[in-house]
Amino acid sequence: MEMVIEADGLKRSFGDVDAVRGVDLQVAKGEIYGFLGPNGAGKSTVVKMLTTLLTPTGGSAKVLGMDVVDQADDIRLRIGAALQDASLDDKQSGREILRMQGALYGLTKPEVEQRIDELSTLVEFDAIDRWIRTYSGGMKRRLDLAASLMHNPDLLFLDEPTTGLDPTSRARVWEEVRALNTELGTTIFLTTQYLEEADELADRVGIINAGQIVGEGTPDALKKSVGADVIQVRVTEGVDAAITALNQLDVVDKVEQGPRALLISVSDGAASVSPVAVALDEAGATVAELTLRTPTLDDVFLDLTGDRIGATDDSGGTS
Ligand SMILES: Nc1ncnc2c1ncn2[C@@H]1O[C@H](COP(=O)(O)OP(=O)(O)OP(=O)(O)O)[C@@H](O)[C@H]1O
Ligand SMILES: [Mg+2]
Repeated sequence: MEMVIEADGLKRSFGDVDAVRGVDLQVAKGEIYGFLGPNGAGKSTVVKMLTTLLTPTGGSAKVLGMDVVDQADDIRLRIGAALQDASLDDKQSGREILRMQGALYGLTKPEVEQRIDELSTLVEFDAIDRWIRTYSGGMKRRLDLAASLMHNPDLLFLDEPTTGLDPTSRARVWEEVRALNTELGTTIFLTTQYLEEADELADRVGIINAGQIVGEGTPDALKKSVGADVIQVRVTEGVDAAITALNQLDVVDKVEQGPRALLISVSDGAASVSPVAVALDEAGATVAELTLRTPTLDDVFLDLTGDRIGATDDSGGTS
């Protein structure tokens, strides 16, 4: 497998603040890698080192096979980056920003115009010639994303691309990220504080806390590592018969009687709901409520750090 990002013991201190304390990373070509962590965890600092904007104070990293310190200029021409603190000039139009970016990457004028045409669905058509001062936060984010894509980079860094966006704009960015990955094969390194976002988009997730990676894996594997799925059943009549029947099922690991409901531990929630429902029915139990609770990445974070991630996720999604 071809690695496009390889970091080895990467460190960065600011005075006596150890922002990044030895990070190892391996991201393969074609992956969407989600870098998940709370405020101040060190996500942007890692991204800035990988995009050559900050020099590491320890360790080393290669991006597209090139060293982030010795070959910074070559790396910069090959990657795209939409960073968290992107500052856009209010008195320019979206089109002007995109033209400037195209020129920066050495595209010819016709190439620039063609690329703007292709990307203008990302920014809104009527907005592309308006001053950026009139843009909403979501439009600025999407313009910034479009600017990072002008030169068709093979590797794209997105630092919290949807923070502060409303659910509709967030869904749009998600769609674009997915399309870039599946249609063009762009490798994407994306930081986020949103568990849902990592869960939704990433092939693999690295969890960073206080400058160190505390867990890594596919969202599913991370969630499985926390433990079993739980089917919660409120039985109003025939509890004893229900427990006896459930204990005889192969898919059931354990049945506990909680204060309000039976808690049935299963290894695969989705595949177990139906046999559990059938068994309850055959046992003659009256079921008032049956819910499946699968572990979330929030449970993973709690398990790994003893703390909730703390970001308020207003995307309205559940996982
Ligand atoms: N230029 C700097 N000077 C001093 N300290 C810094 C600097 N940049 C970052 N830090 C510190 O390094 C730590 C990590 O910051 P970083 O911006 O990487 O976090 P983050 O994970 O991106 O957080 P957020 O989700 O809020 O963007 C924080 O304690 C921050 O205060
Ligand atoms: Mg940040």
